[in-house]
Amino acid sequence: MIKHLLSINQLDRHDVIRILDTAESFREVGTRVIKKVPALRGRTVVNLFYEDSTRTRISFEIAAKRLSADVINFSTSGSSVAKGESLKDTALTLQAMGADAIVIRHSSSGAPATLSRWVTASVLNAGDGTHEHPTQALLDLFTIREHFPSFEGLRVAVVGDVRHSRVARSLTFAMTKMGGQVTLVGPATLIPPEAPAWGAEVSHDLDGVLPKADVCYMLRVQRERQRQQFFPSVREYSRLFGLSRARVEALPENALIMHPGPMNRGVEIASDVADLPRAVITDQVTNGIAVRMSLLYLMLGGARSADAANAEEPATAEEVARA
Ligand code: NCD
Repeated sequence: MIKHLLSINQLDRHDVIRILDTAESFREVGTRVIKKVPALRGRTVVNLFYEDSTRTRISFEIAAKRLSADVINFSTSGSSVAKGESLKDTALTLQAMGADAIVIRHSSSGAPATLSRWVTASVLNAGDGTHEHPTQALLDLFTIREHFPSFEGLRVAVVGDVRHSRVARSLTFAMTKMGGQVTLVGPATLIPPEAPAWGAEVSHDLDGVLPKADVCYMLRVQRERQRQQFFPSVREYSRLFGLSRARVEALPENALIMHPGPMNRGVEIASDVADLPRAVITDQVTNGIAVRMSLLYLMLGGARSADAANAEEPATAEEVARA
């Protein structure tokens, strides 16, 4: 398995399936009264978040704890970063303290890749600028796989602020890698010019795309990253690109509605649509834990280290989950 997870493009089809299958073994752990397995006992995972996050940070924290790792949550306010410490010095400090994995979210694209050159710990990209968010794409694939027998030929519409979305990039790379067809939908101002090179189609007509979509993936309008006016008004955006109740009727009967969160209810997605049974948004959150457990386990060599520590420890993810 890879040492660092910086981009979906590091993974081939076989790796993706292995990560999803391993997540499958760990999913059941989350339904138990005692939600813990010993796979990463004695290992240290640091959550290094330079940008706000609710679900991704908590999800990584729960995932590491369910594998019995020690977790340190490092946020930039209240730390020496607020005193001007550089990413490099922070990284070297964490390294000196014996971190085995560093989960990093940063507003600069490429920060996780830079970090990976300074430390011996495994680096996991939890979202870097407008570049990538690979663990989100993997949990999205896991959620899609629960409803469809194969990714081959599956049609995914990714709708909204594609330009500022690392989620859209990673999901497009992942779905096209697995044989799916992605259509990026949004106003011309919010679709980056290089989007066709990602292997996706581009459309500005949501109503034309919906009847053919197996998955309708809504993106948050990322106002904090928009440095200019990309559409005339929120009302107009919502009318043209929001997923309303009427638009849901145009989707095929078994189509899924997804959103990475946090949602702007009433902007990109109508509030009642977000609560429909076919909107699997909370399943995405639940599945995120199993997928991140799988990644930490595979990347930190959970089976191998457990083997070395104690020959009686379970060696495969299935055995770990059963133990
Ligand atoms: C996304 C992110 O931070 O990139 N959220 C998430 O990780 N669940 C998407 C977003 O902020 O809109």
